[in-house]
Amino acid sequence: MARLVVCLLLVFGVVQGRHEKYEGHQLYKVAGTSEKIAALEGHLDILSATPSARSQSGYLEALVRLSPEVRQQWLQYFDENSMPFSKIADNLAEILRDEDASIKTSRIAAKRSGRSISWDTYYNHDEINEYLDQLGEEYPDLVTVINAGLSYEGRQIKYVRISTTRFENQQKPVIIIDAAVHAREWVTPPVALYIIHQLVVAGADSALTNGIDWVIIPLANPDGYQFSIEEDRLWRKTRSRAHANSDACPGVDGNRNFDHYWGTNAASTNPCTITYEGPSAFSEPEIRVIRDVVLQQLSRASLYISLHSYGNMFLYAWGNNGTLPANGLILHLAGTIMATAIDELALEKADPYIVGNAANVLYFTTGTSRDWTRAVGIPLTYTLELPGYEYLFSVPPEYIEQIVTETWAGIAAGAHYVLSSS
Ligand SMILES: *[C@@H]1O[C@H](CO)[C@@H](O)[C@H](O)[C@H]1NC(C)=O
Repeated sequence: MARLVVCLLLVFGVVQGRHEKYEGHQLYKVAGTSEKIAALEGHLDILSATPSARSQSGYLEALVRLSPEVRQQWLQYFDENSMPFSKIADNLAEILRDEDASIKTSRIAAKRSGRSISWDTYYNHDEINEYLDQLGEEYPDLVTVINAGLSYEGRQIKYVRISTTRFENQQKPVIIIDAAVHAREWVTPPVALYIIHQLVVAGADSALTNGIDWVIIPLANPDGYQFSIEEDRLWRKTRSRAHANSDACPGVDGNRNFDHYWGTNAASTNPCTITYEGPSAFSEPEIRVIRDVVLQQLSRASLYISLHSYGNMFLYAWGNNGTLPANGLILHLAGTIMATAIDELALEKADPYIVGNAANVLYFTTGTSRDWTRAVGIPLTYTLELPGYEYLFSVPPEYIEQIVTETWAGIAAGAHYVLSSS
């Protein structure tokens, strides 16, 4: 038994003491106008931003992490700028150690179940790739696993194509979904894997496989993801070191690296911020994988969703200036259909989903996948922020099944909308 535990810990790469860097870091909720919250973006680690009280327009609440060294200075800044704040957690390292313990337990239970994958624990990059290859072998008529290219550190990025017609029927719409562009958003790969599972293994809704071709990238940023498991739970970016000052500050924010108004937001030019846009648009190999898939399927792509965590939101274009694309009404309608399907299955304590323009709901962003995919011609494109409940970004394994189930209902509703309107 003891040996089993040690072995499982190594598989998920859990290393003792790696949370020490967050000893004494506190989490605060801070509120303010969207301009005031946006101004923090380049200077603080914003773990999530959501509309405040879900009503007052233009007012946001952000969850930020404050180290002991900078805490006083920032609290004073919040005071001086009339930004109400409250403490949410006293010691982030403690939260992360608790998370380790619950994942450890969940992995032991999952291993015992004997299934190759289950919806009550988290998996590492190798395990996810192995599972995808296994699906490709078991369902050769439906699933094609594509080795799309290597990450900066040389990990294979795989995606699956799901099609009853080998992607040869040019009449079918294509739906494209990616997950874990942001490394620390661990609950996103299980959602992508569950969508694959429902379509392929469970055969949950044959209309959706007969009528639609699917492209699903369950782990778009494997370097960052592994780094978040092994070294720094809060890592968000890639791990590239191809830019100035990258020895001190490696990595690029993949969701600021797309070529849409790239380079127009001053807050994203500093490599040491977590929203660093990169040395050039599409500088990141991981992001070029997404770009190439999208361009390859462009003539048929009808819906693109990038899975993120957390905040319970469907966000659509344009994030760069807050105006709506020509099909803004349809974007809102399809987003609402998906959000409603999720809300129907959501836990009592979950906030209802918000559907809206990214800049109006939150603040201006440039270089996002949602805006770029809309600009190149996919009609329906969204950033989907999954639930975090009171656990924020570190969703305990026992909530995975709830999240994958309800989110599948939303995706299925969106897919039926695509079918009915194509
Ligand atoms: C806002 O940005 C979009 C592209 O994201 C562009 O097409 C539109 O013209 C811009 N609108 C204004 C008012 O600048």
